Amino acid sequence: AITRHYELNITMLNVTRLCHTKSLVAVNGQFPGPRIVAREGDRLLIKVNNHVQNNITIHWHGIRQLRSGWADGPAYITQCPIQTGQSYIYNYTIVGQRGTLFYHAHISWLRATVYGPLIILPKRNVSYPFAKPYQEVPIIFGEWFNADPEAIISQALQTGGGPNVSDAYTFNGLPGPLYNCSAKDTFKLKVKPGKTYLLRFINAALNDELFFSIANHTLTVVEADAIYVKPFETDTILIAPGQTTNVLLTTKSQFPHATFLMLARPYATGAGTFDNSTVAGILEYEYPSSEKLTLFRPTLPPLNDTSFATNFSNKLRSLASAQFPANVPQKIGKQFFFTVGLGTNPCDQAQGCQGPNGTKFSASINNISFVQPTTALLQSHFSGQSSNVYSPDFPYNPLHWFNYTGNPPNNTMVGNATKVMVLPFNTSVELILQDTSILGAESHPLHLHGFNFFVIGQGFGNYNPNKDPKNFNLVDPIERNTVGVPSGGWVAIRFLADNPGVWFMHCHLEVHTSWGLKMAWLVLDGKLPNQKLLPPPADLPKC
Ligand code: C2O
Repeated sequence: AITRHYELNITMLNVTRLCHTKSLVAVNGQFPGPRIVAREGDRLLIKVNNHVQNNITIHWHGIRQLRSGWADGPAYITQCPIQTGQSYIYNYTIVGQRGTLFYHAHISWLRATVYGPLIILPKRNVSYPFAKPYQEVPIIFGEWFNADPEAIISQALQTGGGPNVSDAYTFNGLPGPLYNCSAKDTFKLKVKPGKTYLLRFINAALNDELFFSIANHTLTVVEADAIYVKPFETDTILIAPGQTTNVLLTTKSQFPHATFLMLARPYATGAGTFDNSTVAGILEYEYPSSEKLTLFRPTLPPLNDTSFATNFSNKLRSLASAQFPANVPQKIGKQFFFTVGLGTNPCDQAQGCQGPNGTKFSASINNISFVQPTTALLQSHFSGQSSNVYSPDFPYNPLHWFNYTGNPPNNTMVGNATKVMVLPFNTSVELILQDTSILGAESHPLHLHGFNFFVIGQGFGNYNPNKDPKNFNLVDPIERNTVGVPSGGWVAIRFLADNPGVWFMHCHLEVHTSWGLKMAWLVLDGKLPNQKLLPPPADLPKC
């Protein structure tokens, strides 16, 4: 293991897409940002220099940050933002992880343009659990907005309505030929016949889960969220914002006299408006002659194909077996039941409210819409000055009980507070996440910072504590950092709280996070010296 140094300069960059040029916040003059590569066990020192007018933080999405919570990145949770002209060195060691992750800005909607791949290779001389691929290609899905995403969300929050949707989806920043004025901005995957490629997919889109498929080619899924899975074949993958998926693509043994479109477009279950467009890229064989080639196009599942989503997530299994079961916490220390969904807040009529029935859109966990503090939770906890920053009484269960997936209750109002859930070190947590039908059932990709969790069960309707646990998978459940709470259903996860610090948990649909679908866990220090959060670095930004 070695120490790797990176420097990320946050600067403005002029980028043209869809015949529309705008100045956006970018990393090292690149959009998307540069690739960061390390090996398992390496230490990363990444200096972020803020040269733009916006405050910034960077989150290393999926990195466990064992005892190094100061480097996690969510603004006002683990750190105050890096202000204009300031720098901060993110310092962490990659412990027990290898695979595809990504980094992104973690403040307001800046992650719309500030993101890039974070690739963790296995330790030297350690191989993949599959044959070495001929080539590895990161493909990062994003969303392009002609307007400034910061302006879009701040206007939406003021008027209480839904924000404008994006103008295009992208592969590595490129919308592709199905959009007007975009054919030259097409991602091309150039391949040779008879080879196996490892495609590292990352969904960095702000607000949309995406289906992806390549015409006439089968994909073999081998990893999700930087955890190997039992390989399975599929024509289409489904990937939510915050998730990563590695697949093997074996090309045709002979030149196929054709090129092949790869497409992605949303899986959408909610009632709200969304960007219903399709990004296309091209799988192109490096053909020796200039013969005219046929173009094939894949078929993607219908927009709201929840049964595809269910089948796909059921196929994701860890490499564990009955003989060597996964390391799932067996004895539960604490059990929680969290409802996740939308709701409303009163709206000041003077502002012209565009939300439901003259209210503002809001979103909550257990009826609490999280209010972002003005100083970082981790700093206030560490310095013992937390009492007027947050309260440690996040509810174990919803404040109001109702038929979560039946007729929505008349009262859709949420409470607003900054509450955290406190966990003693090494608590085994079982958490049921229940979708609610308030303002429409919807799949919510819930992301937990600081941990991987085991996905031990999922189902539709209301979770039944007497019946559903009998079907939990404690043998080979997938381990991940972002899970889709099924639309009109629930998911059960377990994790061991072995990482002291303050850990954000939120919907990775950015609009839902903005509306308050977020909370934080505070994991206390253990007794032993190596069970304690490290002290804050000297350059930690101040609010
Ligand atoms: Cu990828 Cu808290 O986020």
